[in-house]
Amino acid sequence: MCGIVGYVGPKQATPLLLEGLRRLEYRGYDSAGLSVLQDGQIVTRKVAGKINALADLLETDCPLGTIGIAHTRWATHGAPTVRNAHPHVDCTGHFALVHNGIIENAGVLRRKLEQLGHTLGTETDTEVLVHLVEEAFTGNLEEAVADALTEVEGTYGIAVISSRDPGKIVAARLGSPLLLGLGSDGEYFVASDASAVLTHTRQVVYLDDGELAVLAPHRYVTLDLETRPVSKAISHIEWDLDTIERGGFPHFMLKEIFEQPESLRNAMRGRFLDEEGTAKLGGLERTLSEEDLASVERVIITACGTSWHAGLIGEYMIEEFARIPVEVEYASEFRYRNPVIDERSLMIAISQSGETADTLAALREGKRHGAKVFGIVNVVGSTIAREAHGGIYLHAGPEIGVASTKAFTSQVVALALFTLFMARRRHMSVLQGREIAAALRQLPGQVAEVLKRHEEIRRIAERYKDHANALYLGRGYNFPVALEGALKLKEIAYVHAEGYPAAEMKHGPIALIDESMPVVVVAPHDSVYPKIASNIEEVKARGGRVIAVTTEGNGELEGVADHIITVRRTLEMLTPVLTVIPLQLLAYHIAVLRACNVDQPRNLAKSVTVE
Ligand code: AGP
Repeated sequence: MCGIVGYVGPKQATPLLLEGLRRLEYRGYDSAGLSVLQDGQIVTRKVAGKINALADLLETDCPLGTIGIAHTRWATHGAPTVRNAHPHVDCTGHFALVHNGIIENAGVLRRKLEQLGHTLGTETDTEVLVHLVEEAFTGNLEEAVADALTEVEGTYGIAVISSRDPGKIVAARLGSPLLLGLGSDGEYFVASDASAVLTHTRQVVYLDDGELAVLAPHRYVTLDLETRPVSKAISHIEWDLDTIERGGFPHFMLKEIFEQPESLRNAMRGRFLDEEGTAKLGGLERTLSEEDLASVERVIITACGTSWHAGLIGEYMIEEFARIPVEVEYASEFRYRNPVIDERSLMIAISQSGETADTLAALREGKRHGAKVFGIVNVVGSTIAREAHGGIYLHAGPEIGVASTKAFTSQVVALALFTLFMARRRHMSVLQGREIAAALRQLPGQVAEVLKRHEEIRRIAERYKDHANALYLGRGYNFPVALEGALKLKEIAYVHAEGYPAAEMKHGPIALIDESMPVVVVAPHDSVYPKIASNIEEVKARGGRVIAVTTEGNGELEGVADHIITVRRTLEMLTPVLTVIPLQLLAYHIAVLRACNVDQPRNLAKSVTVE
């Protein structure tokens, strides 16, 4: 998720663009830049780092002009360097473009443009867009943009200016939000969301997918991809700034829980090879050759916290389907052990932030012993991503809430893609591979279905908000989900909660059961369901209260569990992506009802960069 802002009007553009970027900084903050039409030329200034670094640069080097575009980046392709920062310009310097989204066929387009003689100098997918516009230009900027976009697969929200068709900004949207801000005095804005324009206007026009806009002093027009005029309603923004940044949600955590259908789509975007029934994992193939993978004899997954829980699910997947032995190690433990690893070991370091000190230290220890290492990371260009031999990026966008939610489900999907990739190189049939791919593709919609139970789960939270303890039980793939659900309740509601393998109850914890100890049981209708159904009966027989998460249509728990939350049916290996959602919402609502600081819980940091 990146932030785009553009201005055309009677005022100097640079200060307004900078102000807009600051409002959008929550959308991405690893590099920033702007381009302004100054005396008939495009002047571009870019930095690696936060917007303050751009402001410092502009203090002494400020482009002058009344038309400009700007961008604050959340890297998805290419490290957060000055070179990769937006705006990107074409070979001639006559075109500048900013982009939010992912161009899936960037590789194909890059090769085509290079064959046409274009020189592309960055690692980004975005750069192909501005060269496509340059290639298509015959005198009219909006026509060139429309032509260029017909070749693009993926998602985009873009703004483009040109010194060869000056006096305007052309904007276009497909899959990434973009709106027009209708200022007074003949000025217009284009922006990723209303927060960037709110101090100037509450009158906005939301572009829809497949639409373009042309902004010029005292006029704007909205078009379709054939550049035919499209009439659009003008909306009035009621929200305040904070609410806009949270997308209308009361907390970033709830926004991120509800972003999961989209973040899961982004985790899978462009990563299936349907014919072969396998996954395509970007850097993995480039960095780890077929021979490297074929020689892998064991996998060591290392991580902390929620990422460690995802790793446990990865262990079950990889062993079941790729038939490779896996160990999952707390990074903080691994780094001080004397582990037996060598060049036939593949280490997977899982980290949302890519900066967790223990995980980074474990990665370095694995490399010292000769292990091949790659990261499953959300933050592009983070230390773990850079120090690993390769990586799978989550593309989940910034996760602002300290409690990890969308990163967890994307990590599980990334591990499923990795499993598919490895298994199809070994024993898995193409048909089974296609079945897994099809089930993965259904997850975003199935998650959206679970999210519809939001109000039902809030009511359950009201019943249990005053309990000081809770037990979370699961088996198989859902044992790590029980751990994750317990961690969520601990870290944002400050309630003591423990996750256990359900069968472990009889080895001690069942002594805790009475009506004051709510028990959350993650019990999808899978291969171990009959066993966990018995565990639910054991809890009930001792007066315990049971909140069960199970598969839609499973009527066996009616009259047994006190509360039942259902999720859609999927492959057993993928059930955690669905069963964790109710646990995220339960913890969230209990925390809100206990008046806790949900986004910034006490004693916690989003990234633990110290031991
Ligand atoms: C999860 O909700 C916590 N915020 C914490 O356990 C987190 O998962 C852990 O610190 C690891 O962070 P990382 O994924 O950025 O490495």
